[in-house]
Amino acid sequence: MNFLGSHILSISQFDKNDVKELFRVADEMQPYAQREKHTRVLDGAILGNLFFEPSTRTRVSFGCAFNLLGGQVRETTDIKASAITKGESLYDTARVISGYSDVIAMRHPVAGSVEEFSRASRVPVINAGDGPSEHPSQALLDLYTIKKELNIEDDFDGIRIAMVGDLKYGRTVHSLCKLLNLYSNITFTLISPNELKMPEEIVEELRKSGHEVIETEDMESGLENNDTVYLTRIQEERFEDRNEADIYRGRFRLNQSIYTSHCKPNTVIMHPLPRDSRAEANELDNDLNQHPNLAIFRQTDNGVLIRMALFVLTLGVQDKVHESSVEVKWYTEKRFK
Ligand code: NCD
Repeated sequence: MNFLGSHILSISQFDKNDVKELFRVADEMQPYAQREKHTRVLDGAILGNLFFEPSTRTRVSFGCAFNLLGGQVRETTDIKASAITKGESLYDTARVISGYSDVIAMRHPVAGSVEEFSRASRVPVINAGDGPSEHPSQALLDLYTIKKELNIEDDFDGIRIAMVGDLKYGRTVHSLCKLLNLYSNITFTLISPNELKMPEEIVEELRKSGHEVIETEDMESGLENNDTVYLTRIQEERFEDRNEADIYRGRFRLNQSIYTSHCKPNTVIMHPLPRDSRAEANELDNDLNQHPNLAIFRQTDNGVLIRMALFVLTLGVQDKVHESSVEVKWYTEKRFK
């Protein structure tokens, strides 16, 4: 893919070389994300951060990534406070906001809406989650985390991953499956209630590419022998009747004792967050908070690097980042410990 000026809407746009290039640029962003250095390469540029659905880390990390490159951020976070509630179309919103921005990150509850918006936009649009469909930047930061946690160079062939929870509505696992599909011989163990299974077309695609896909409701056996276990929250906001989500909440949980009894040592524990920490859910227990293989906060940190790399590549400044860089003057020693 030619990143320059492109919308980033789906993982289907990426091939292995694109992923490699993105991860190379993400690595280069490390001194800026860690505040050892400061760059002004996007001085004068504006990110339109349009979030028509709740978000903490995706919205803030897109904003921080842009700020760390020297650009400024304009946010619309509440659909009720935007002209969409006056009946404005996505087309008009896109024409307007893209006139005020140099790149847009957008989240919306309807599948396909970000793509529709991008067709009217005058600047690149990055999909920050469109309903249950896709969340490409999350999948990229997840794979980048897997790479770092498992010490993988570029070749994810042969890894074994368990995905647990709401695989029907979870857009992060949809995008992650599509991304892993670029590699060979992956074993996917998909652990979910029968009613919340991974969409059939994604499973078929994986099997067609020769991956092994095991679908099960038995968490204990499903956890055996993986390199990574990726937990997800029941996506209650996607259910027509929210009470239905109560049936599934808390059905699959990972805690210290289950991890010790069923996961092979060093299995990396991931979750896109937010984890649902209410007692009735608690899919990833706080008793694992100090576990060295709990990668969830390294995932969120990696999100900044990946989003910086996406901005650098879509705005074509990959060769100019370091030119505009200076040492920071404030105290940073304790960061990222
Ligand atoms: C996820 C999302 O919004 O899809 N969160 C995120 O962006 N890290 C997962 C979720 O909400 O459960």
